[in-house]
Amino acid sequence: MTAKTLARGRRRMKELAGKTAFVTGAASGIGLGIATAFAQAGAKVMLCDIDEAALSAALEQLRLTNADVDGVKADVSLKAELAAAAQATTDRYGKVHILVNNAGVGGGGWTDASWNWTLGVNLMATIWGIEIFWRLIDQHGEGGHIVSTASIAGLIAGSNYPYDVSKYGVVALSEGLRRDLAPRGIGVSVLCPGFIRTQIMTSRRNLPQRFEGAVPAAPTSGPIAERINMVRERVSGGIDPLYVGELVREGVEKDWPYIFTDLEFEPMIEARFAAIKQGFDNIRGRNPKR
Ligand SMILES: NC(=O)c1ccc[n+]([C@@H]2O[C@H](COP(=O)([O-])OP(=O)(O)OC[C@H]3O[C@@H](n4cnc5c(N)ncnc54)[C@H](O)[C@@H]3O)[C@@H](O)[C@H]2O)c1
Repeated sequence: MTAKTLARGRRRMKELAGKTAFVTGAASGIGLGIATAFAQAGAKVMLCDIDEAALSAALEQLRLTNADVDGVKADVSLKAELAAAAQATTDRYGKVHILVNNAGVGGGGWTDASWNWTLGVNLMATIWGIEIFWRLIDQHGEGGHIVSTASIAGLIAGSNYPYDVSKYGVVALSEGLRRDLAPRGIGVSVLCPGFIRTQIMTSRRNLPQRFEGAVPAAPTSGPIAERINMVRERVSGGIDPLYVGELVREGVEKDWPYIFTDLEFEPMIEARFAAIKQGFDNIRGRNPKR
């Protein structure tokens, strides 16, 4: 993206220092890693989370380093709460330059409530975050960036259907939006982490009250339990979330379309591409009937 292709009067954001970022799911894990890395780079950061106690603790820690941070409680799967959090951000800091749609949950099986919870936090909140914040970023003309946390599961699907569907959605939205917002000086990146050492395996701690009793507990034996235990082990020995935060900072500064954390799943993604290519090969040389 060069300055030449920008719409008139538009600038690209070159560095984070002095800019304002809004980060969802910022009280723990990857979101806290991103908020920390951004604050260390001199950005003002509004941390948003559903978990008030964790949010206060995170703010207290960050303020020890003289970071310019503040917090706002919101269940991002409720559009009105996300809109109120955006208002709180502009009230506190004026302009917003960076949106990080990061809040996410692991999900909990195949029921309507599980689908609604998972799609609500992982996908609808990302859709609404973009809808609410892109205008706020666009209106000052100083450029900005939108990062959304998908997952490697946004590029290769497994058996956690609601989660994988939500993450494919985040990748699709980011890819389309990147093309459309580039001329306005707004970069778009999608973060696709592998296994990161966070609290993701205890997502139910933040299950909104309206879903209580409707999202079944994870099985304790059988193939699904085995898969969950394997993932739990990989997450507990996973990559440091602050390392991920620093990668995101670099990805924003260099306007990377995809931000990966490691190479573990590259062969599986290549295998998916090969399977897609095979699909084309199956019909190569035919003349579709019209
Ligand atoms: N940890 C991994 O291995 C991994 C891998 C790939 C993708 N991800 C993604 O990273 C993102 C961050 O998750 P994490 O691993 O840091 O987990 P985490 O549980 O440590 O952090 C998630 C944060 O989101 C908050 N949150 C949950 N529901 C919310 C809601 N309705 N409204 C506002 N905030 C809410 C939680 O309170 C928590 O602070 C998620 O989108 C997750 O899907 C994680």
